[in-house]
Amino acid sequence: MTGATSGANETINALDVGTSKVVALISQVDERGQLKVIGAGRSVSQGLRKGTVINTTDATAAIAKAIEEAERTAGVTMESAYVSISGAHISAIGSKGVVDLGKNGRRVTAEDCQKALDQAGGIALPHNREMINVVARQYKLDDKEGIDNPVGSMGYRLEVEATVVTGASSNIQNLTNCILDNGVRISDLVLEPLASAEAVLSREELSAGVVLVDIGAGTAGVAIYIDKAPWQTHCLEVGGQYLVHDVSSVLRMSQESAEALIRQFGHALPERVPVDAEVRAGAFGQEGQQVVRRRVLAEIINARAEELADLILSEVKRSGYDGLTPAGVVLTGGVAQLPGLSDLSATRMRWPVRIGQPNGAVASTFDLNSPEYAAAVGLLLWGLHRGAKPRNLEPVRPGPGKRILDYFKSLLPISS
Ligand SMILES: Nc1ncnc2c1ncn2[C@@H]1O[C@H](COP(=O)(O)OP(=O)(O)OP(=O)(O)O)[C@@H](O)[C@H]1O
Ligand SMILES: [Mg+2]
Repeated sequence: MTGATSGANETINALDVGTSKVVALISQVDERGQLKVIGAGRSVSQGLRKGTVINTTDATAAIAKAIEEAERTAGVTMESAYVSISGAHISAIGSKGVVDLGKNGRRVTAEDCQKALDQAGGIALPHNREMINVVARQYKLDDKEGIDNPVGSMGYRLEVEATVVTGASSNIQNLTNCILDNGVRISDLVLEPLASAEAVLSREELSAGVVLVDIGAGTAGVAIYIDKAPWQTHCLEVGGQYLVHDVSSVLRMSQESAEALIRQFGHALPERVPVDAEVRAGAFGQEGQQVVRRRVLAEIINARAEELADLILSEVKRSGYDGLTPAGVVLTGGVAQLPGLSDLSATRMRWPVRIGQPNGAVASTFDLNSPEYAAAVGLLLWGLHRGAKPRNLEPVRPGPGKRILDYFKSLLPISS
């Protein structure tokens, strides 16, 4: 790893701003260089559609709630955070950067690597697009290719091949404003599947080549890893909300009832559900209740789950890297909790598939061992391994003080 690493007692925080939930984590680096989560908050997301902020006022308020809870449980304020970003406006391209190490050559430093990456990221972009992340695929030192970490090696010319992730400036700005309006500085923005990969992929999978898919409520973020680095990323505008929508319209119930039903009784493979199993569920209309056959529920879910697996498969094929990922697919994000999804996907894609959840690299007394928390935990690890790349933006309002004031104001009776 060539990025900056973090020192003991340093605080590393995460804000995973999703379509359905916002997660705020406050962590500290211990003397062994390991992360311990000391505060966690979760709120129902608002103002986002398919991973993108569409109402900054609502999104800012939802983010504030998660931050407040994390601060309350940690007993410290969140001054800065690594923030997840997703949405169909995001794309990735390959780029190169070169650093001349002088006529006599010298040993490569971490600064040289950063300079090469900065050059790779400095590509000309249309005025309405911005760079989000630049991640090294491989370094080349003189004529030696495929180097993971050239720091300390002797050479004359350092070259990096990198993946550059870019997004629409307006979408990036809307998200960053929601964070800054909460008085929190942005340590770095991180593409959601790249964050999740930090938390769930094993060393073996990364070395072999693997596809990570974070399936949330509004997006399915795909990142294709070859030789330990992300070579391609893509954000599909599909997720759990499609399942919820289908179940609610076919079974004629509210979206809330449909989501609760899917979470509790959903299955991706109808043949695994007993033919006569029934459950009581909500319904529109006079009765307000209905009896649902679990197999019928699974049939509705199955159609969408197959479509999702096919979309992921065609995305990986389109990238042209499908022959380079023998470790198959790791599914994470909330939808990965759907029973039967990994088997269904393995059958459809004919690849090995497993469900990934945070792999225990971060200590926590909060229960974060669920695919839903892959991105939030991954943001902390991204910060630990790669260090901050602040976006030179200062919070526009005094942060914690204002949040606390807002909280007390919210307790006062509303005056007309
Ligand atoms: N057991 C389950 N079976 C099927 N779907 C589930 C299950 N549990 C949660 N989900 C779905 O997962 C989704 C939430 O996932 P997650 O928390 O990863 O989304 P998010 O991060 O808020 O959204 P996004 O990343 O798309 O912006 C919801 O649509 C929810 O219905
Ligand atoms: Mg998410």
